[in-house]
Amino acid sequence: MAAEKDAFADLRLTPRLRSATLILLGLVPLFLLLDLRYQSARRPALAVFYGVHAALSGAALLATFTATGRRRPDHVALLLILGLATNINVFFHRVPANPALISDVLTLLMMSSAFFFSWSALRQVIVCLVTCGGFALAGMMAPHEAAPFGYAFGVLVLGAVVTTTGSRVLGRYREGLARRQTELAELSTRLMSVQEEERHRLSRDLHEDIGQSLAAVSAYLQAIEQQLPPGLGELRARAADARRLAAKTVAQLRQVSQLLRPSVLDDYGLMPSLQTYLKDFQERHGVAATLSSEGVPERLPPPIETAIYRVVQEALSNVARHARARHVRVALATERGELRLRVDDDGVGLPPDGRYPGTGLVGIRERVQALGGSLTVASRAGTSLVVRLPIRGERAA
Ligand SMILES: Nc1ncnc2c1ncn2[C@@H]1O[C@H](COP(=O)(O)OP(=O)(O)OP(=O)(O)O)[C@@H](O)[C@H]1O
Ligand SMILES: [Mg+2]
Repeated sequence: MAAEKDAFADLRLTPRLRSATLILLGLVPLFLLLDLRYQSARRPALAVFYGVHAALSGAALLATFTATGRRRPDHVALLLILGLATNINVFFHRVPANPALISDVLTLLMMSSAFFFSWSALRQVIVCLVTCGGFALAGMMAPHEAAPFGYAFGVLVLGAVVTTTGSRVLGRYREGLARRQTELAELSTRLMSVQEEERHRLSRDLHEDIGQSLAAVSAYLQAIEQQLPPGLGELRARAADARRLAAKTVAQLRQVSQLLRPSVLDDYGLMPSLQTYLKDFQERHGVAATLSSEGVPERLPPPIETAIYRVVQEALSNVARHARARHVRVALATERGELRLRVDDDGVGLPPDGRYPGTGLVGIRERVQALGGSLTVASRAGTSLVVRLPIRGERAA
């Protein structure tokens, strides 16, 4: 649930690049030890090879933590794979003892790069050309037996063909999946805005039409009550009961109308509506609730105000239903063009099995992602929910 453009973590390249480079780094001590055990005669060449390998993978891993690296993970991945292929081929040139083993390693590199990065056909062809071309060049320049090299080269070319075809199939599946996810995200955004409009309309109708009619009924009943002759005491008592019932219904209607769409949110903004909501929450559920804000503008764009309000509603409803908490803290702050909402409770925390049934958290994620933001839910002492939304252009009050 992070702040990137694509809808779901499994389709984002940065986490995949990070896993790939971690695996590549993990291979260094493993294979270095094996090589040192069985090829002790060539220690300097091995040390250079593993050194370059570790430096390339380490640089790619570090790049994934920089803003440029996160913006262009595909470029970093391409440089990483081309660099590693070249390193392996240079090693082969220096130590041409086992062409079949080198071609196996290169085939593995091409296949795993296709699996991890699902490049376009053109990129995959470039990777295959550089890999196979480098191997051919190193093999031709190095002194070795012709037969094993020819066989190894044949296997490598076959591996390149299989990789390119497989990567195209994988790429088509990923594209289809990404398209479906985008469509679903658009659909859920549309549903949320329709739902919001509907709540708005219902709340207005309840408050203005039905509420006002009932208030008028209550006023008529009061007039009847006052004008009834003294002899009709029982009838007066009935009229008084009916008036009280009408007044109670008006109060209930107002409450439902506020829950559907608090007018204070439209009239006075986010902080006053959250204050009212937290006060009600505390009274209803007996959980102490505090609200704080730091540098938050008095008014934010309506979609952001609505989104934050709905997120707090769902987060607090989760606290009441699942957390068994005694305190909940809602904190809003702005930093570097971003609005950050934190909801921390001191309850039992998220289920340890990592299974979250229900649609509340998914709804929050969809809502914030539709506005270009991100959601993180963590469980340490209690549960912490953090939402970040970009609000560039807004000035703190
Ligand atoms: N503050 C919390 N403390 C403990 N567990 C929580 C908290 N918030 C969420 N959870 C856990 O995460 C699960 C998923 O929450 P989510 O809001 O998505 O669904 P839900 O509340 O079960 O159902 P609904 O769709 O009605 O919201 C919950 O079932 C609960 O187990
Ligand atoms: Mg919920």
